[in-house]
Amino acid sequence: MSKPPQIQAIKGMNDILPPESARWEWLEAVVRRVMAQHAYRNARTPIMELTQLFTRGLGEVTDIVEKEMYSFQDRQDKHGDADHLSLRPEGTAGLVRAVTEHKLLYDGGKRLYYLGPMFRRERPQRGRYRQFHQIGAEALGFGGPEVDAEMILLAVALWRALGIKNWRLELNSLGQPDERRAHRAALIAYFQQHESQLDEDARRRLHSNPLRILDTKNPAMQALAEAAPQLIDHLGEASLQHLAAVQGILRANGVEWRVNPRLVRGLDYYNLTVFEFITDSLGAQGTICGGGRYDYLIEQIGGKPAPAVGWAMGVERVLELLKEEGVAPPEPAPDAYAVIPDAAALPQAMRCLQALRAEGVAVQMHASTGAEGMGSMKSQFKRADASGARFALVFGADELAAGEVTLKALRDGAGAQQRLPLAEPAHWAASLKSTD
Ligand code: HAM
Repeated sequence: MSKPPQIQAIKGMNDILPPESARWEWLEAVVRRVMAQHAYRNARTPIMELTQLFTRGLGEVTDIVEKEMYSFQDRQDKHGDADHLSLRPEGTAGLVRAVTEHKLLYDGGKRLYYLGPMFRRERPQRGRYRQFHQIGAEALGFGGPEVDAEMILLAVALWRALGIKNWRLELNSLGQPDERRAHRAALIAYFQQHESQLDEDARRRLHSNPLRILDTKNPAMQALAEAAPQLIDHLGEASLQHLAAVQGILRANGVEWRVNPRLVRGLDYYNLTVFEFITDSLGAQGTICGGGRYDYLIEQIGGKPAPAVGWAMGVERVLELLKEEGVAPPEPAPDAYAVIPDAAALPQAMRCLQALRAEGVAVQMHASTGAEGMGSMKSQFKRADASGARFALVFGADELAAGEVTLKALRDGAGAQQRLPLAEPAHWAASLKSTD
């Protein structure tokens, strides 16, 4: 029989395996701790939603909805109807749907966070994947600038807790819909005056979404975009005050920022405050977190009007940045490695190991590869050493005959070799646990 061809992962979708997965778990643990400190509670929504949630929520003419969603027609139900479904390209729309569907805001605002995979059919490159992961925070039902500031401070607290130093904050206000309409008219007039300089993308967007032309990545259009009318000049008193209040709180907290009038974000649901955290250490994909206020999305999705603000950060990018900055999370290692020279000792040894684990000790058991028995003591000790454990527990025939197990230090400073009673692991389990 010929060897079947190997099946590989889908392009742009990564496996997260040890030792890398330990970095993910560490990051997630830090996130959970910091979220709890800020009283944000966890929410989990499905990875698939009706396509129309995203077309309605994110904007028909965004890159994401136009060309990056994984969408398909579901099988027909018994009436011959079939839903149009999409893998979520981001988490905000789904969360807003869930909060609305379950009337979570009936007794006041909610602060929520999530963590999970998102899907966008982008061109894969460093820091840009087709399945990637976001940590997101959303505060729903709060309209004041203090929650915009709280959101930004929450992200800053995360950078601090993770040990990330190389970031800068860009801030802008997208104002309110009527202010944007006035700006939009001015933008269209301006770009029409310079129509010959527009690329194909810009021409297409001229009437559908001229604001996105400002976000152009085309170097030939940079100067044109830079000299375009700015939204900030069309903002009314209330919008300017909102922005000023956010800045006042950031200043009092020692957080630096730069106002970038061209920061428009890639999704259409924003108004007032928008922001991005950017790093110079990751090349082209330097945006590690982005977000802003979206006071009209809940209503747009069919809920009772309520203001909201949030952000999401890209986990792959944050982890890459941690590597760049030399932050090394602790490597996980068991407290003890069980060396079992003879398979006959397994029932007794495993009973002891289960008792130790119940006492909170992390134990890795030596296991055979199959036909060749448990393997030599030498090879078992080699494995024990590689596991990173501080102790070996030796379940030899001598020991078992005496109703004991040998505790042997594998690392300096872990103490002298000793024999311990096999029947009473609870009495000595504590001495195996690492103190850090
Ligand atoms: P976004 O700017 O589209 O916003 O994505 C947020 C972050 O996700 C980006 O800054 C980036 O770090 C990461 N990211 C996006 N696409 C990819 C990709 N293809 N590969 C790797 N990382 C990526 C949102 O998604 C909004 N839902 C944020 C938000 C929450 N606004 C309000 N609330």
